[in-house]
Amino acid sequence: MSEAYVHGYDPRENERLQNQAGTLADLLHSDTFYPPGSVVLEAGCGVGAQTVTLARRSSNARFTSIDLSADSIAEAKRKVGSAGLTNVQFRQADIFALPFAAESFDHVFVCFVLEHLSRPVEALVILRGLLRPGGTMTVIEGDHGSTYFHPDSSAAHHAIQCLVKLQQLAGGNALIGRQLYPLMVEAGLEAVHVSPLMVYVDSSRPDLVDGFTRKTFTAMIEGVRKSAMEAGITDPEAFDAGIRDLRRTAEPDGVFCYTFFKGVGEKSRRA
Ligand SMILES: C[S@@+](CC[C@H](N)C(=O)[O-])C[C@H]1O[C@@H](n2cnc3c(N)ncnc32)[C@H](O)[C@@H]1O
Repeated sequence: MSEAYVHGYDPRENERLQNQAGTLADLLHSDTFYPPGSVVLEAGCGVGAQTVTLARRSSNARFTSIDLSADSIAEAKRKVGSAGLTNVQFRQADIFALPFAAESFDHVFVCFVLEHLSRPVEALVILRGLLRPGGTMTVIEGDHGSTYFHPDSSAAHHAIQCLVKLQQLAGGNALIGRQLYPLMVEAGLEAVHVSPLMVYVDSSRPDLVDGFTRKTFTAMIEGVRKSAMEAGITDPEAFDAGIRDLRRTAEPDGVFCYTFFKGVGEKSRRA
């Protein structure tokens, strides 16, 4: 990855990715199923947060999960091993230099990776080349512009904007979810269908208050505090006020909304 990865690889971020995946498993993966015998590439598996869900839900498919980070791969291996899953092999690799033959996978799965790349279409074109004709590609991305909440707070929007800006400075795009359809079409995928998947949280859903509002979204914004100061795009007072107001949305009268986008496209069956 030529760009800096905005979330970093420290243990707290790993835990956040696990919380995110655990909380969102049903929302993101309810219709993700790969038939027995199929061969699936998971590109940018990170610490294996999605891998466990994928491999468990399609226990007779065979997964190859790759990531740029050797440390993340080691953690993912541990996670998959302790879940008792034996249908995943891991490999450290860069999406832009993958060691696989053309058309060697039936399906490709990519989650929360394109948002960190300065050349997302190029990545999709490379991944499409690894699909057999008629194979499918599934891409899931968030879009921080889809965040709204009660009580509303300009300080909270400012803190979110710090992450959006940092990701932009690192070459990525934290608002990429809304672009999934045109990106996948531009990459040459056919029959592209994008589903918006909305997370709605109020205090009648305590699991989501804790797992999503606090431990996924607010933790993610909080995680860039130091980088945002270093980049000179905020000051401690303004940023911390934003975090306080994000936490406020997890109180009994608070509400939090966010939308993920899941796109599925097909590689042409024609030569
Ligand atoms: C936000 S994490 C998402 C991990 C996982 N897919 C999930 O949903 O929990 C993004 C991951 O993409 C990986 N990544 C970024 N650029 C990459 C590249 N060029 N090749 C392979 N992996 C890459 C990072 O190392 C990181 O682990």
